[in-house]
Amino acid sequence: MVGLFDLGVSSLYRTHTCGELRTAHVGQTVTLCGWVDTYRDHSGVLFVDLRDRYGKTQIVFSPEAGEELLDQAKSLRAEYVVAVTGTVARRPEGTENPKLATGEVELRAENLEILNRSLTPPFHPSAKDLPGEEIRLKYRYIDLRRPEMQRTLLLRHRMIKIIRDYFDELGFVDVETPMLGKSTPEGARDYLVPSRIQQGSFYALPQSPQLYKQLLMVAGYDRYVQIARCFRDEDLRADRQPEFTQLDLEMSFVQAEDVMGVIDGLMARLAKELLGLELNLPLPRMTYDEAMERFGHDAPDLRFGMELVDVSDVAAASEFTPFREVVLNGGRVRALNAPAASPRYSRKQLDELEEYVVHDFGVRGLSWLRVEEGGVLSGPISKHFVEGLATRLKERMQAKPGDLMFLVADKSEPAGKALYGLRRRLGAELQLYDPGTMHFSWIVEFPMFAYDEQEGWWVAMHHPFTSPRPRDLHLLDTDPAACRAQAYDLVINGYEAGGGTIRIHDQGLQQKVFALLGLDERAAKERFGFLLEALQYGAPPHGGIALGIDRLVMLFAGLDNIRDCIAFPKTQRAVDLMTGAPSPVDPQQLRELGIRIVG
Ligand code: AMO
Repeated sequence: MVGLFDLGVSSLYRTHTCGELRTAHVGQTVTLCGWVDTYRDHSGVLFVDLRDRYGKTQIVFSPEAGEELLDQAKSLRAEYVVAVTGTVARRPEGTENPKLATGEVELRAENLEILNRSLTPPFHPSAKDLPGEEIRLKYRYIDLRRPEMQRTLLLRHRMIKIIRDYFDELGFVDVETPMLGKSTPEGARDYLVPSRIQQGSFYALPQSPQLYKQLLMVAGYDRYVQIARCFRDEDLRADRQPEFTQLDLEMSFVQAEDVMGVIDGLMARLAKELLGLELNLPLPRMTYDEAMERFGHDAPDLRFGMELVDVSDVAAASEFTPFREVVLNGGRVRALNAPAASPRYSRKQLDELEEYVVHDFGVRGLSWLRVEEGGVLSGPISKHFVEGLATRLKERMQAKPGDLMFLVADKSEPAGKALYGLRRRLGAELQLYDPGTMHFSWIVEFPMFAYDEQEGWWVAMHHPFTSPRPRDLHLLDTDPAACRAQAYDLVINGYEAGGGTIRIHDQGLQQKVFALLGLDERAAKERFGFLLEALQYGAPPHGGIALGIDRLVMLFAGLDNIRDCIAFPKTQRAVDLMTGAPSPVDPQQLRELGIRIVG
């Protein structure tokens, strides 16, 4: 344990931290400061656990030290802030606490100073049972006292330190980019900031520093990095916050493999230094098409198998009309086999699984078949799979007795998405992987464009500044859907941890891509004139990536939501429950901005 003075920190209040004392300190007179964690009265002797972010130390107030001190100690309550001076003593034999780093010693109190009192806290930082998240967020400063939260925020601190050192060693330059800027399309709504001086005009908070970092490449900075705050007004989920942090970088004269190589090295360093894990480099790469075919999604969890199988031909040969119709209409029947899962799922649980995929993924249904002892199929649709077909299906899916097969008939993509969701859920429920392991991979060769059914137009799969693969350039004119981008996503344990691309550095090509995305020359000039102009002043070939720091911390800490990795996060409704933001403002402020609230 590093002590206060080892850190070069002096304190007129305390001599040591609450995590520092060991048997080597026995006999010394020390002063500790901290929060009263627990207090117990044992036949007239008072035991207090004193807590700070370094640990806990047991303090003993005994009658020998004087009635006055004991009386004062008896007034202590949970979360009072105190300074205690006393002598470090070895705990009596048999009373050591091996769970505490300081558990072999205790502090025999001689003086107590109450530095501040506390109201009865709404919950106790050391309690096993946590209150609901609303209470934790409202009293975040108490929640942040919990050792688990402190561990996560310290991990975050260490991660950012390693990241900064790594990029510094590689010659990257940290450059800050504006918060008050012009909107960059990253696929979400902007948070807008009204201008007082130019009423009716707005800044947009950055969804990412995308365009600024490209302009830094035009400016010759060659290697840029920033721990950048980003803002996106989008539907929130466990892994999305309206305000989040990116590790953002950009490099000149690089190809996709160069950028991925830099991130490979960073992941290896983080895994080693934070978790003691050795990663084999390069990290595995899988194409988008392969990921969609084998897992139904572009961010598959590769910690376990249970891959998707196409059974369209077998299902279409069955007597089951819905399957036949879907296949006849150009859809597919896609399936997955859950090994040894049949005894684990009752009929009711299977109905729940169906409800989940129908509700969350919008497919029409989820069919299932149990493989019984002897290989017979059972379940509502089993009668449609007669002898030979049943055998073909089992063979295709490599299903054995005890297995449970799930089938979804729909267009290829929705069927895949539904099975992706099911696979994720079954993987966890059937414990198909060790939650302590981590799997890193790259998904590459994304399509340039996706067709937006609602807009009736092409949208950029990553963002509009992404370069097509050189050999696909001609497809921009003939078959945009087939055009592949120089894009790469880093996927960890089924989460998209980062995404980047090689950019377009040619003004003509950029304009062509804008046009494909429905931005005519005038509109493109209005929104991105500064970029189109800059591309004409000697823009080097360049590319980069951004990783979600909050998500990385979540994954490295083994957590399942990013709110627990952010000191002061917002709720799913984008509210800060502690401060009450967002909140109405003074009418005078609105008048100054020339804003009237309607409705
Ligand atoms: P992208 O939009 O893919 O790319 O974002 C990069 C990474 O940022 C994280 N992320 C989020 N984390 C928390 N809450 C959110 N709302 C949120 N949105 C995104 C994810 C994601 O992988 N400018 C490009 C990068 C580039 O091309 O260089 C960009 O922002 O982990």
